[in-house]
Amino acid sequence: MKDKKPNTLNLLITGGAGFIGSHVVRHFVTNYPAYHVYNLDALTYAGNLENLKDVAKEDNYTFIKGDIKDIPFIDELFDYYRFDVVIHLAAESHVDRSITNPNDFIETNVLGTANLLNAFKRIWINHFEGKQFLHISTDEVYGSLGKTGLFKETTAYDPQSPYAASKAASDQMVRAYANTYGLPYKITNCSNNYGPNQFPEKLIPLFIHNIQNNKELPVYGDGQYTRDWLYVTDHAKAIDTVFHKGKIGETYNIGGLNEWTNIDLIHLLCEQLDLKLGRPKGTASKLITFVKDRAGHDKRYAIDASKIQDELGWYPEMTFEQGLSKTVDWYLDNTNWLKNVTSGAYQAYYDKMYGKQED
Ligand code: NAD
Ligand code: TYD
Repeated sequence: MKDKKPNTLNLLITGGAGFIGSHVVRHFVTNYPAYHVYNLDALTYAGNLENLKDVAKEDNYTFIKGDIKDIPFIDELFDYYRFDVVIHLAAESHVDRSITNPNDFIETNVLGTANLLNAFKRIWINHFEGKQFLHISTDEVYGSLGKTGLFKETTAYDPQSPYAASKAASDQMVRAYANTYGLPYKITNCSNNYGPNQFPEKLIPLFIHNIQNNKELPVYGDGQYTRDWLYVTDHAKAIDTVFHKGKIGETYNIGGLNEWTNIDLIHLLCEQLDLKLGRPKGTASKLITFVKDRAGHDKRYAIDASKIQDELGWYPEMTFEQGLSKTVDWYLDNTNWLKNVTSGAYQAYYDKMYGKQED
């Protein structure tokens, strides 16, 4: 075990080497020098310490490599560090992978969450004052919307993919521990995130990578699926807001107020990349290829974020055009990051998902 820091708020962030987690870790390490941030991450294919090299040496930051599925390890960790706060992001997060390997999602997202809840409960039961388990979840737990309507915190859960079902189960475990043991929790359910450091299996970074490399852009089905996109640092700020100002025992929906059909978003991305790569207008969009649809593909997600806005005063700050442009710039400026994460296992995944293509 590494040094533990006395007389400070000990904050455990799980999954801090992943996409959203790395932005959350950076946000807390840089904005709250009085807290000590412990980043627990198993460094799966999606976790990358390169995401955090700018904060790795900060005094209020410690990285711990470990797996939330490993009960003895988790128990020992909580006994030793006695974390006051858990911000739980570690998860298997990609819907397509959940269709191929659902058990990985049940093991990490459901059992892994239960292991953290058990450890947190064991060390703090009867002393929960000032403690907090902040569980980071997704809007996908609510299922799929038709053309109208928005997900509210009161919308009944109706998860449709193994990923969504595993996250829904983990949310419900958190609530059950509150009801049964008095565990102090908050839950956030957020819409689709985008921004720097997202693993290029998700729509936006995958398509940026493919356009750069003149590879086909595999659009599932007719492309008329709708997502509500939020820039990742706006999500990190929302988590900060809920952590500091949210009420124990409450759920907050977080969204970008920014709905796009996949095909419109892809055309915008194509336009931006043609411009930034100095290619003739229309070059990237020629790569658009409609492919077989995702099984059980959710039609539309959209968030009613009025609770976090009205009660806690959080609003997204980044416009989509600005955010997308910043994201594209980041990927174009960080070709080594992309090269590192797309070597080896990524190639095998890509060939299996989309078929082999000439480079
Ligand atoms: P990600 O896949 O980029 O990162 C997940 C991180 O968790 C990785 O660093 C990985 O190494 C780590 N991890 C996985 N299994 C682990 C285990 N068993 N033990 C310890 N660490 C483990 O995911 P992300 O997109 O950053 O999502 C983070 C969280 O936010 C997830 O809980 C996800 O459900 C939720 N979320 C994501 C989005 C989105 O659009 N990406 C939207 C809403 C909510
Ligand atoms: P994704 O980034 O996987 O997020 P989620 O499924 O969690 O919303 O996908 C976003 C949308 O893009 C979703 O409707 C599926 C679609 N999509 C494609 O059309 N092609 C692809 O290759 C990928 C990865 C996603």
